[in-house]
Amino acid sequence: MRSKLVQILAPAAAVEGSEGRESRGKNPGWASPRHTLLPTLPTGTVTCSAATSERTFYLETFGCQMNVHDSEKVSGVLMSRGYRPVENHEEADLILYNTCSIREKAAQKVFSRLGVFKKGHHYGQKIIGVLGCVAQQEGESIFDRAPQVSLVCGSASYSRLPELLARLETGDRRVTGLSLEIDECFETELTRRDNPFRAYITIIEGCDKECAYCVVPSTRGPERSRPSEKILEECRRLVDRSYTEIQYLGQNVNSYRDPSPARLSFAELLARTAGLPGVKRVRFTTSHPRDFTPEIVHAIESHPALCDQVHLPVQSGSSRVLARMLRGYTREEYLTKIDCIKRARRAISISTDIIVGFCDETEEDFGETLSLLDLAEYDQVFSFKYSPRPNTAARDWADDVPEEEKGRRLSVLQERQREIQLRRNQTAVGREFEVLVEGFQPRLQQAVGRTTSNRLINFPGEPDWIGRYLNVRVTAAGPNSLVGVRG
Ligand code: 5AD
Ligand code: SF4
Repeated sequence: MRSKLVQILAPAAAVEGSEGRESRGKNPGWASPRHTLLPTLPTGTVTCSAATSERTFYLETFGCQMNVHDSEKVSGVLMSRGYRPVENHEEADLILYNTCSIREKAAQKVFSRLGVFKKGHHYGQKIIGVLGCVAQQEGESIFDRAPQVSLVCGSASYSRLPELLARLETGDRRVTGLSLEIDECFETELTRRDNPFRAYITIIEGCDKECAYCVVPSTRGPERSRPSEKILEECRRLVDRSYTEIQYLGQNVNSYRDPSPARLSFAELLARTAGLPGVKRVRFTTSHPRDFTPEIVHAIESHPALCDQVHLPVQSGSSRVLARMLRGYTREEYLTKIDCIKRARRAISISTDIIVGFCDETEEDFGETLSLLDLAEYDQVFSFKYSPRPNTAARDWADDVPEEEKGRRLSVLQERQREIQLRRNQTAVGREFEVLVEGFQPRLQQAVGRTTSNRLINFPGEPDWIGRYLNVRVTAAGPNSLVGVRG
């Protein structure tokens, strides 16, 4: 899963790679491992420099794209206080971990990082902080488990970061930001963007759904949407700085409720974004099936800049399991939405997330998930073994599918999907696509481009093609990527 691609993406957010055999890393909502080629781009104005010279920070990010983008904004806050990013914790005065707790394994990662400091490693005057979902979940108990930590702050409190940092700078030993009762989004003057072409913009934070397995509502708090005019203004500023691709982020982007007088629906926001001069591509993730409307498909049909891509997590193909998961739709209702997407005037690629081995999932339920794969014919599937989480409804239910059986179901599912993807990708052979060149592999002298439908094509190229839109003809297909030549 780890890519050897030299990407233009960057450093401070050194992002975690794959976990076990579960498929993550390439999910539109998940970060993939990255290597630096170009410097990161601060966007915005540096307005103040409260800290004295040459304080340094190291920020490592785990988890989803939301976390990656939060880290971009946290880096902006730090840089506006005069901190300089460095590539490893040894050189840093301030060490921050932006954490994920979606599954148990992900949550454990930060404690193994913190263990380095416990084992007598010299951390002297360094300040160590835990941000994000594990911070919110574990709260002040992190200080007991890891006494070297001075800052614990959940994502809903990031707007308080300047104040918390100021307290640390003046000698406070332990500071926390753990309230979930914050009704605003995290706004920054400065964002240190890791990708010079695709700009992430959070349009909605938090989650009001209550899926039985999911920790997110308790770690990210209730939904807060950003006013549409602020979002569109940020898009205009990004276009002025040469960004051509916008990716809207949110746990459920299509639950977006514009708090400004314009009262734009999510589909209207997409349409307005696509109409901005200079915007070539607009993506969005993640959509919840319950709130996914035909208007979103109509917007994609009518606006060429809206990418041919929808990520619509189903989680299970069995209505019985979906009801226990409290997803709010049946298999049939979900398939109606898939049908609506498939009937669109232009082909839209569809990806999904699936959990195997949820409490009481029978072989028959699992069979329903496999048959749903055949019906939906996804272009990509991100699959996970169920992992019980704190503060969720399912926490108290028996986690009764044995680990080994979860592993077996995962492999069967992934093998079935591999065949579907290979078949689907083979239909692209001989066709020409426009790609945005996102990377270059010097060893193979190959450029790597992404189609609007989120397919990767490798083709002979030059390093300075990075950032250009080029036409590429597909000559061969594998299950996960395509090979081509410049058209
Ligand atoms: N166990 C396993 N996978 C989970 N996900 C969310 N919570 C859990 C859990 N407790 C998966 C879902 C979600 C994706 C981001 O992670 O598939 O869509
Ligand atoms: Fe993102 Fe959810 Fe993980 Fe938090 S728990 S980092 S919101 S995936």
